[in-house]
Amino acid sequence: MEFWKNLYNELLKREKNNHPLDLKSCVYICELINKYKIKNILEIGTGLGFSSYFFAKNSFVEEIDTIEKNKEYFSYAQELDDTHKINYINLDLFEYRTDKKYDLIFIDGPKRNQDKILEHVSEFLSNSGLIVIDNIFLNRVKEKNNKQSKKILLHHDRFLKYLNNNSMFDVKYIDIDDGLAILKRKNMKIAVTCCNLELGINLAIKKIDNIIVGLRDFSCRFNNYFDFEEIEQLIESKQESKITVCINDIFFEESIPKLENAIKRLVALKVDCIMFHDFAVAQIVKENNFDIELHYNPETLVTSYGQFEFYLKNNIKNVSIASELTMSELKKIHENKQNMTTYIKAYGLGFVMHSRWPMVSNFREHISSETNIYSKKFNNIEYLLIKEDLRVMPNILYEDKYGTHMLTGYYICGIKKINEFKTMNVDYLLIDAFFIHDIELYTIIDKFVNANKNNLSNEELENYFNEIEKNAEHKISEGFFGSIQDRLHMLKEEKNE
Ligand SMILES: C[S@@+](CC[C@H](N)C(=O)[O-])C[C@H]1O[C@@H](n2cnc3c(N)ncnc32)[C@H](O)[C@@H]1O
Repeated sequence: MEFWKNLYNELLKREKNNHPLDLKSCVYICELINKYKIKNILEIGTGLGFSSYFFAKNSFVEEIDTIEKNKEYFSYAQELDDTHKINYINLDLFEYRTDKKYDLIFIDGPKRNQDKILEHVSEFLSNSGLIVIDNIFLNRVKEKNNKQSKKILLHHDRFLKYLNNNSMFDVKYIDIDDGLAILKRKNMKIAVTCCNLELGINLAIKKIDNIIVGLRDFSCRFNNYFDFEEIEQLIESKQESKITVCINDIFFEESIPKLENAIKRLVALKVDCIMFHDFAVAQIVKENNFDIELHYNPETLVTSYGQFEFYLKNNIKNVSIASELTMSELKKIHENKQNMTTYIKAYGLGFVMHSRWPMVSNFREHISSETNIYSKKFNNIEYLLIKEDLRVMPNILYEDKYGTHMLTGYYICGIKKINEFKTMNVDYLLIDAFFIHDIELYTIIDKFVNANKNNLSNEELENYFNEIEKNAEHKISEGFFGSIQDRLHMLKEEKNE
């Protein structure tokens, strides 16, 4: 420690305005390096090279990229380094670009525009990585009490507010030296659709963040439905879970009074949120000034962030993003999501269409057939599996009192992309249990919860995908999360043509 103290004092003498990282903070960060086995570091603000040199001496650390805009500081920093682990990069931090993902990003550069710095560098952070920001208290600046320091403090106050309200990172403040902020990516939350009370209670015990149930006579595409009494019982057992009631039918004008009455009862039961498809639901909530959160899930229609402003203005704070979007489209949407809470269907049948028309019955009448044309059954739902000639995967088609529904004949599974969803800042992963038996659902949920909490390798995620497929009623595919082949799922002969 004596060596570091001497070096620290020597550097202070050389350059009074370029304050090296305080010693206790250095030691604290080294403890983090040990705890998280940090291999590579990006440092913003090399200064005279004290902190990077200190970190490089840690045996876990293999490589440090350190950025400094002032050329003069560089020669001293480079002279100091006998570790050969440090890459000195003479650039303005905002010009720095890389494909690398760092385990630790240490921000010790300019004290203005820290929000912009954070946004710029968070792209380079690995999924389980940490960001450490030095001088979070700015004590030395406060002591100066001059015009310039007041300006910096004003910027800094704004930055602290930004940090406390941000949706991407959990922030911990460490009260040593001039203060450190430690940022870690927030985990995504998990939402699961649920068809019976026993399952709902078990999901609450499992601490599933959002349990989504269908309301009998108002919801479709659930394995089974809850009545008001069961919803009440679920709310009594919900612990920390949020209870969302999904009302996703398309409503005729004459059914509006019944709908209004149902929403009133749900509000009285204090359900946390109503998920809707038909804007009649949002209109009723607005007109009655009901105090209830809204979630817009039109399955295929939320395809751009341009819509978000309208929803937010109308108090719709949650949306389900359409499943037929590629990863790059999802990324763009999440870069611009503002305060919107986003849901991505990470597992479940893909929705294709819902029509009020009884299309299957009409067809049967048209061909004058008395025979049952349905070939398959899940619980009480009779359905057809139909397949276009050139495609590998079929579609599910069935009819109920709400009309005709078409879904993919395979489950879309996004587990291989879970680390990318985390980096994108997706809020919720939705597991849609439609056409999935409860026993199998528990395994799927466990895999998603585990993959969400831990930073699993691609190989481990691939194994999860394969294990899920083994027990699935239908095939599973990455769908639009995957490659062009996953999207088109054409037969081999077609691909070879
Ligand atoms: C407090 S010093 C860094 C001290 C160093 N981390 C240490 O502990 O030894 C902050 C450094 O950030 C550098 N800096 C300021 N603005 C920068 C920018 N836009 N890009 C890169 N470096 C910048 C300054 O030149 C200064 O050397």
